[in-house]
Amino acid sequence: MENLDLLKRYGLFDAKVPRYTSYPPANHFQNGIGGQNQHHWLATVPEGSDVSIYIHIPFCKRLCWFCACRTQGTKTLNPVEAYISTLINEIETVRKGLPDTIRMARLHLGGGTPTILTPDLMAQLLGAVFDEFHPSNDFEFSVEIDPTDAAPKLLQTLADFGLNRASIGVQDFEPVVQKAIGREQSFAQTKEVADWLRDAGVPSLNFDLLYGLPHQTEDTFNDTINHVLALRPDRLAIYGYAHVPWMSKRQVMIKEHDLPNTIERLAFSKQVKTACLAAGYQAVGIDHFALPNDSLAFANARGTLRRNFQGYTDDTSSTLIGLGASAISRFHQGYIQNAVATSAYQERINGSGLAGNRGFALAQQDYLVGDMIESLMCNFQLNLTYLFETYPDQQTQIETFIAGLLERFPDVLVRQDNMIKLMPKAYALIRIIAHDIDAFNSNLKASHSAAI
Ligand SMILES: C[S@@+](CC[C@H](N)C(=O)[O-])C[C@H]1O[C@@H](n2cnc3c(N)ncnc32)[C@H](O)[C@@H]1O
Ligand code: SF4
Repeated sequence: MENLDLLKRYGLFDAKVPRYTSYPPANHFQNGIGGQNQHHWLATVPEGSDVSIYIHIPFCKRLCWFCACRTQGTKTLNPVEAYISTLINEIETVRKGLPDTIRMARLHLGGGTPTILTPDLMAQLLGAVFDEFHPSNDFEFSVEIDPTDAAPKLLQTLADFGLNRASIGVQDFEPVVQKAIGREQSFAQTKEVADWLRDAGVPSLNFDLLYGLPHQTEDTFNDTINHVLALRPDRLAIYGYAHVPWMSKRQVMIKEHDLPNTIERLAFSKQVKTACLAAGYQAVGIDHFALPNDSLAFANARGTLRRNFQGYTDDTSSTLIGLGASAISRFHQGYIQNAVATSAYQERINGSGLAGNRGFALAQQDYLVGDMIESLMCNFQLNLTYLFETYPDQQTQIETFIAGLLERFPDVLVRQDNMIKLMPKAYALIRIIAHDIDAFNSNLKASHSAAI
């Protein structure tokens, strides 16, 4: 009870805060940054460096009501075929704009539902990627998979191209919950895909679950967790459901009075943590779990964990190239997001081969704040020695931030030598603490999702 009071006092019950998968969050991107900078930022990626590639496939056969991803439904393959040909055009143009000597450290296909592609379309897309980008020595290839739309021939194509990690969408197995979120998917179907992937030699599986969904109870969620743990994934991402119907219109199908309240959400997040730790997983950041021999657990232990648009990663590349409608690229100089609507994206690619539109050019202080927020989100702490050494020109600014944090969060942040640490009992506050140093921080109730 004491903990609940503490969390309440620091705003956990009212705050709506960014997930901090980037700094600044994408709602602060500005028009025109892509058009002005994309050529130059691509050309100045350091020679010989590793880049990560993200490819967005926005199409789905079904449109689940809970989903806040950038997706569009399709019943036919026609728009998908046209999209893949546009993507191949973009891949070739972007590659020409980059230095010859870069290497591809990661390739991630996300969506939407990448497995909506036919084997032939997937082979065309991956053929184009591997023709243009040479993999680095520790290259990893991952794909988001909807088990209800994952034909064995398509999975075989992914395996043939060296798929290292499949990220399988589950959310919840309870039929009442599935009905309320417009997504039906049996355990048997999910297990079949997981078994198939393992038999095909895909070395690592991740499952996505959600807590905070309508009609979820401790018992039903326990059942879902146990079913998922029985499949022994290497990683789990267990997100709090973000109910943002003003951004994702289809969420109006979900009745707000059926949603668990903040106390229940907090209980679900504790429940899942207890179950995962008991099953031998390690907690990674705010919402991921990994087996001790998984590279995410190693990165967590070494303090090299990073945060990106997919959540947590052990990828250390400083350049992310986003391809496809709405995909975001990260360069040293800032962020560039491709045109969001598929038609606008295709028009731009057909015109100039590049689709960068909104974005953000980072200023000196943004690097410092972004680094501090990433460190809080990954490690629940700040290393002052590192900050002073990395940002020697901003010592006063760092001291002001730290003094402010210690003053505003006196019961939960402690200073130990050169470290500022969040007490484990208050880990649920991390997004609120990050928000405290966010220079774009505005109304805590505006446009973002619940803090837990
Ligand atoms: C692109 S989606 C899923 C991939 C695949 N199409 C599927 O359905 O399995 C990636 C993940 O985003 C998460 N996600 C989507 N909408 C969300 C929301 N409103 N709140 C939190 N997480 C969400 C889900 O866990 C989902 O598995
Ligand atoms: S959860 Fe997956 S299948 Fe459902 S709408 Fe979102 S991206 Fe499409």
